[in-house]
Amino acid sequence: MRHAIPAWIRIPVIFLIIVGGMEYFIDSGDQFAFIEYPMLQLVLLFILLLLISAEIVLAAFENILFKSLSPEAKEKYMAANEKRMEKYDLKKIYRKLMGTRPISEERDLELDHNYDGIKELDNKLPPWWLYSFYVSIVFAAGYMAYYHLLDGDSQVMEFEQEMAAAQEAIKEYKKNAPDLIDAESVVALTDPAELEKGASIYQTNCMACHAADGGGGIGPNLTDEHWILGGGIKNIFHTVSEGGRSGKGMVAWKSTLSPTEIQQVSSYVLSLQGTTPANPKEAEGDVWTADSE
Ligand code: HEC
Repeated sequence: MRHAIPAWIRIPVIFLIIVGGMEYFIDSGDQFAFIEYPMLQLVLLFILLLLISAEIVLAAFENILFKSLSPEAKEKYMAANEKRMEKYDLKKIYRKLMGTRPISEERDLELDHNYDGIKELDNKLPPWWLYSFYVSIVFAAGYMAYYHLLDGDSQVMEFEQEMAAAQEAIKEYKKNAPDLIDAESVVALTDPAELEKGASIYQTNCMACHAADGGGGIGPNLTDEHWILGGGIKNIFHTVSEGGRSGKGMVAWKSTLSPTEIQQVSSYVLSLQGTTPANPKEAEGDVWTADSE
């Protein structure tokens, strides 16, 4: 017998095997290969059409062969074919899975009690349910062994691992994108060239209110140890990028300056610490030490 499996099963199975093989052998990162390389969609479509046409050609051949058979041989062939196809009769498969019995057998199933006219049938559990139940028992045993006896990762551990991996990825990303400095990740620059850039940003944008030497004016003195909004590079970076208390005059500079520029000017402001300006404004705010953060 040429083929034992009907075409409507064979074509999808062969097709899926080809798609699976493609995914396995073609390196396409996290994406499906046929999404990464749209050309493959055409190839797959072509393969599918090829499979279908092969089936049609084979069926035609079979038809010709069949016609050439003697009447007895035809009959035999038909009978064999019918028997073979029985396995794939969807209705039959469905009935088997549901475990239903025909109405004509109900009399045998009836239990001999009767509650106000309500009778009960002694149906078997439907096989689909029963076997799913068995599968779940086997699964539970495997689950139990993996997660509770061996040390499979618990949900909490998996969560923590994923979070750690994500933190790693963020770090990696920020490394390659220096302009993503924020108040959390910023460090004070000490490189003279960077401070030089900071100084020129300061002269352009900040001098008007904080004085050229940082002694203060409309804005507070930046050379003393007193800070209204907190000292240290992180607080200063935050103040410069987000601005001071509303209505005081210190705007958020993040729309004007890039994070790198804010880092440079903040570092410059820090470098003014301890210098003696010409006209120092009286101290405002509290003395800031590293551990008052
Ligand atoms: C229009 C005037 C003005 C300009 C321009 C200005 N500032 Fe300010 N700045 C202020 C005022 C007013 C405050 C006080 C804010 C508060 O009290 O909330 C302040 C506060 C600060 C503080 C916090 C001081 C503390 O004691 O906590 C820093 C740091 C600062 N400015 C840096 C800068 C830098 C850097 C620039 C330039 C990019 C700049 N400022 C431009 C007016 C200004």
